[in-house]
Amino acid sequence: MALLLQIKDLHAGIQEHEILHGVNLQLDEGEVLALMGPNGSGKSTLANVMLGSPEYEVTSGQILYKGEDVTSWAADVRAKAGMFMAFQHPEAVEGLPVVQFLRQAMSARRSSDVSALEVRVAVMEWLEQLGMDPSLASRHLNEGFSGGERKRNEVLQMALLDPDLAILDETDSGLDVDGIAMVAKGVNMVKDARPSMGVVMVTHYAKFLEVLHPEHVAVLVDGAVVASGGDELATEIDRNGYDGWK
Ligand SMILES: Nc1ncnc2c1ncn2[C@@H]1O[C@H](COP(=O)(O)OP(=O)(O)OP(=O)(O)O)[C@@H](O)[C@H]1O
Ligand SMILES: [Mg+2]
Repeated sequence: MALLLQIKDLHAGIQEHEILHGVNLQLDEGEVLALMGPNGSGKSTLANVMLGSPEYEVTSGQILYKGEDVTSWAADVRAKAGMFMAFQHPEAVEGLPVVQFLRQAMSARRSSDVSALEVRVAVMEWLEQLGMDPSLASRHLNEGFSGGERKRNEVLQMALLDPDLAILDETDSGLDVDGIAMVAKGVNMVKDARPSMGVVMVTHYAKFLEVLHPEHVAVLVDGAVVASGGDELATEIDRNGYDGWK
């Protein structure tokens, strides 16, 4: 499979404060990369920088997506090009019905108006496949959603937006055991429907990875990748923590 994402010696941070000190990563189409690392190591920062968050400044290095240098692309342009991110703390948007939000997002992704009917049908299909409550579709985005419902809703968004690269940050945080399994299975279902999709999954739990089976595991400590390998790395972290790399 072709190279999907390549991060080369990426330095980024806020104002004068550098958080990422030369990150290197790469991912092929159809592969899952689990990004692990202790609290504060820069995982969310990296995820945000990959998606072009204006909050962070890239001072050197490159982000290549499908061979194109997207380092200076705006977040909405990256989204349109098929990069998707589920945020660690998704926001509630007052008064915005879930279906309407999804219609806007799908239309932007396809550069053409998606009919309300098409959205509703797709939403209902995926809600059923993901084992989610159909009433979610008629609620307002994230208003009064429990942490678990928000995460499930993000998997739904990912399913509907057909991303080429999905970046999921802390999808497991605040989820109960069933929620973790559901989200991991949901990601697998979306991957089955879209085998060429690459996934970067930020997680703390090996348990999550038992369902997801990532091809690669990378460990970020103090803003740099200190180890990369396969599943066994996640198991080792589960057993011994990050002490060996700090
Ligand atoms: N917008 C910001 N303003 C100030 N400091 C920030 C900002 N974003 C990140 N940082 C700092 O950069 C470091 C890395 O934070 P980041 O959120 O990327 O860590 P993380 O690996 O995602 O941690 P966790 O596992 O707790 O989610 C932290 O010290 C954090 O305080
Ligand atoms: Mg984080």
